[in-house]
Amino acid sequence: MSPAEAAEKVAALRAELTRHEHAYYVLDDPTVPDAEYDRLFEALRRLEAAYPELQTEDSPTQRVGGAPRPELAAVRHEVPMLSIYTETDKSEQGARAFDNRVRKGLGLAAEDGPVEYAAELKFDGLAISLRYEKGVLVRAATRGDGETGEDVTHNVRTIRQVPLRLNGVAPAVLEVRGEIYMRRDDFESLNLAQREAGEKSFVNPRNTAAGAVRQLDPAIAARRPLSFFAYGLGDRGDWIVPPRHSEVLDALEAFGFPVCSHRRVALGAEALIAFHAEIEALRDTLPYDIDGVVYKVNSLALQDQLGFVSREPRWAVAHKYPAQEEITRLTGIDVQVGRTGALTPVARLEPVFVGGVTVTNATLHNQGEIDRKDVRIGDWVIVRRAGDVIPEIVGPVLARREQDLPRFNLLESYPTCPKCGSHVVRGEDEAVARCTGGLFCPAQRKQALLHFAGRRALDIEGLGDKVVDQLVDGAIVKTPADLYKLGVLALANLERMGDKSANKLLAAIEASRETTLARFIYALGIRNVGETTAKDLARHFGELDRLIEADREALMQVADVGPVVADCIRQFFAEPHNVEVVEQLRAAGVHWPEGPPLALPSGPFAGRTVVLTGTLPSLAREQAKALIEAAGGKVSGSVSKKTDFVVAGAEAGSKLEKAQQLGLTILDEAGLLALLDVAAVSTAQQTQSGMDE
Ligand code: IVH
Repeated sequence: MSPAEAAEKVAALRAELTRHEHAYYVLDDPTVPDAEYDRLFEALRRLEAAYPELQTEDSPTQRVGGAPRPELAAVRHEVPMLSIYTETDKSEQGARAFDNRVRKGLGLAAEDGPVEYAAELKFDGLAISLRYEKGVLVRAATRGDGETGEDVTHNVRTIRQVPLRLNGVAPAVLEVRGEIYMRRDDFESLNLAQREAGEKSFVNPRNTAAGAVRQLDPAIAARRPLSFFAYGLGDRGDWIVPPRHSEVLDALEAFGFPVCSHRRVALGAEALIAFHAEIEALRDTLPYDIDGVVYKVNSLALQDQLGFVSREPRWAVAHKYPAQEEITRLTGIDVQVGRTGALTPVARLEPVFVGGVTVTNATLHNQGEIDRKDVRIGDWVIVRRAGDVIPEIVGPVLARREQDLPRFNLLESYPTCPKCGSHVVRGEDEAVARCTGGLFCPAQRKQALLHFAGRRALDIEGLGDKVVDQLVDGAIVKTPADLYKLGVLALANLERMGDKSANKLLAAIEASRETTLARFIYALGIRNVGETTAKDLARHFGELDRLIEADREALMQVADVGPVVADCIRQFFAEPHNVEVVEQLRAAGVHWPEGPPLALPSGPFAGRTVVLTGTLPSLAREQAKALIEAAGGKVSGSVSKKTDFVVAGAEAGSKLEKAQQLGLTILDEAGLLALLDVAAVSTAQQTQSGMDE
């Protein structure tokens, strides 16, 4: 490729990528699949690496963030960044008072007709000024004190919603002002990731967005999901500005900026009041935080006529809503038990009006979160409720902590489950504490029953969500053992259950009495004991009582059982409630063939691990699995160095590739059957089908 060709190609790639980014991030209407975008992006990156002289600031590749800065440079705003007067009267009067001031300022009489306003949202983020020269983003600056801000270009470039180059015919100079913010869902996922990584969670979307923009390291900023809305202008050079603010916003939209669609031209105070009320009703459903609405005189000429008082224009006002963060007292900490037995600490609060509702409790997530936030019973705390999200404790107001309050420790306060009295444990590397009364705990009942009846467990067909809900809510069934006491009457009385389905379900329950030890162990729902581990345990111990009595060392003798799984099994059987349910099940007639423990599995596949991949010509996967297991082998889902054989059928994919890379023994169906020594069956089948033709 000649340098000229490269330059042409680079320009074409940039234009195309910019179009796709705008469609994806601003219009929310993707034009190409992500993979195609990535391919184009990679092509551009390579070309720029090969021809560094073609590198420019507005290239989409510049969004990834360069080297960290020692500090943020100061930027002077030629056109100052003003603030907005906040109407303290949150009622309708607030809008009328503003309209009156404007009318007075313009010298309008009662008969002069209504003033035209632009009504929009007051976003709760951080103000930014974006400078474009010849259509290219050259600088982004924070507001600072309004006169001097900080240069944050390196971080703002990473925000996909901010155009690096303007669409259409660009003015020589244009400063666009707007708000950088973080969506609530992005904030929630970011915090979830923080908590899972055991790191401190962020306080609220606004602070998180502000922190990200003022980062010295653009790589960190790039990892924070930020968004942007344009709402005004700074320096406009010689651009011929449209005469009305609403038209300025339309023009910004055409340049490629995201402009919030919740905006309208409103005639007079009553129309402003209507807008205020409509947006208030919408507030919880918006994907981002707002703290009010903003009214602006729509005509730019009238704006000039009205001018400023100190740093605030007379032509604009912020009309606020009730706050989404308030201070109240933490009076206690309770716990809730979830479907999986996880104990979640819940803060009890002195009732406080926040985000439009009275809040009396808030989640504290887990012990780690309580420790990191250092919240203690008796503290004054900041409570946040925004949108439909569950109220949260942001943190304590340390200045108001009157005395040395004791730290809260969940395991000390709740050594046993408040729902069932079983022991509560917390694994070494685990964030959450759990109730060990799996089968017995009312909070876990539904989950335990559904698992117990599952296809790979006791396989009770017809015992689904709806039936379990009714059986548990009606206190008809408490533990799996109660299932075996059910009569046709109790079942036929359930909603949407006729005599016929009741009898069918009863028959399925009846049939489930005869099972295997492996299925039974799996059905107990012991944490971290899946189907494969259950099979290993059944094979190793042979009898249930040996498993119940096994200590940690004995458990760790079993293939693939490490200390974590061993502890889970120990905790389960150490809980008398669980053993009680197991006894009840045996008493109810649930049984399986028991045998002596198999010291060593026998058969041609004894001790071998096999992976099945692709479609075999005659055997269904379950059949192949059963044959291998009957021959003493184990079927695993993933290929590793420890895999002995990979059986590959048609359309085998990455597993086959990996097996080839590792140099493992690969078999086809015939090879498998030969090893199993059941080739005769297969041949017989083939002869059969041959004769049919
Ligand atoms: S216009 C002269 N419009 O509110 C008015 N500001 O006190 C200049 N803000 O931090 C700003 N939403 O970032 C304007 N739709 C909106 C706004 C808005 C939020 C913020 C702005 C600044 C503060 C102004």
